[in-house]
Amino acid sequence: MPAKKKAAPARASRKTSAQKKVRLALIGAGGMANTVHYPSLAEMDDVEMAGLCDLVEDKLHATADKFGIEKRFTSYQEMIEETAPDGVYVLMPPHHLFDIVIDVLSRGLHCYIEKPPGVMSEQTRQMANLAEAKGVLTMVAFNRRFIPLMQQCKAKVTQVGPLNQVVSTFYKWHTGGPYYNGAIDVLSCDAVHAVDALRFFGGDVVDCVSAVRSLGKQFATSFTAMVEFESGAIGVLLANWQTGGRVHTFELHAAGASAFIDPDDKAILNLDNQLAAEVITANEAAGREEKYHSYGFFGENRHFVDCIKSGKLPETHFGDAVKTMELVDMIYASSFV
Ligand SMILES: NC(=O)c1ccc[n+]([C@@H]2O[C@H](COP(=O)([O-])OP(=O)(O)OC[C@H]3O[C@@H](n4cnc5c(N)ncnc54)[C@H](O)[C@@H]3O)[C@@H](O)[C@H]2O)c1
Repeated sequence: MPAKKKAAPARASRKTSAQKKVRLALIGAGGMANTVHYPSLAEMDDVEMAGLCDLVEDKLHATADKFGIEKRFTSYQEMIEETAPDGVYVLMPPHHLFDIVIDVLSRGLHCYIEKPPGVMSEQTRQMANLAEAKGVLTMVAFNRRFIPLMQQCKAKVTQVGPLNQVVSTFYKWHTGGPYYNGAIDVLSCDAVHAVDALRFFGGDVVDCVSAVRSLGKQFATSFTAMVEFESGAIGVLLANWQTGGRVHTFELHAAGASAFIDPDDKAILNLDNQLAAEVITANEAAGREEKYHSYGFFGENRHFVDCIKSGKLPETHFGDAVKTMELVDMIYASSFV
């Protein structure tokens, strides 16, 4: 009897120490999972990749082997039941997302998803409502907000004065058909990064005017918008999939300070009437050379894990993502062409 009593605290203390790790169950062994999210999680000592699920067994095992994940499943329901995680990553194409996310939230589990947060704002809204009702933490991987260079430039310019004008550009040369065979539009699915970045800089939106055009395609390819923010700042969106190739840049302006940011390369800061007063490379800002660090992917994963540990709502929680998807709706609704 005394021996048993002595053994109990030892078992309890082992359990407590194991529980200090945030236990995540991972659905999806695709491109983003392998190149940015799981490499980020694998670097964190306070994270346990508790299980991995994919419908395609070759991808499941190749990814699990790469990241040393022992528990492997082709049914996400079985994974959740067997691993009892703190949170679930759902990393898959947008039109397959909704039912799984609703199920994860219904089980009272924290949830991390890639962008877009559903195929339309109504899906995002319903997911956000359920997350709030269940009291769980959610996050949409709008990684541009977590790019160290973007964060540092925002801090440096707003230290001089409030932003009065912000610009978000996203250009591509898209030769294919509609996204996912037409399951979702270009603005909601991909150019949404540039829309969300405007909100990151400008805050809440008051109004918008726009021109949305379908250039040589049977779906919208070009989005030009001017957005008024509650702060008084004006935002400009220039997104176009019929251009010379991928360029994705940002401008921040305040009285006495500007930042011209190319997160793939560097930012040029004009300060106090001195052009190029400061030049910061993306790698310098990140303190690392790997793209998953310099392009905000590590930062967004770290943010989610930290929020689970502290109980704080992530910056890009589903409720905030509703506002980004509503701005997408406003851009379509206000088009004058
Ligand atoms: N943030 C960015 O810069 C960025 C860039 C590219 C893609 N994305 C987004 O990332 C998301 C994922 O894209 P991806 O290219 O990694 O996808 P992918 O197609 O490479 O991988 C998705 C994986 O999910 C698996 N899957 C599908 N349904 C499943 C189910 N029910 N259960 C288990 N596994 C299932 C598939 O077998 C596949 O392996 C998309 O929403 C995309 O828009 C974001």
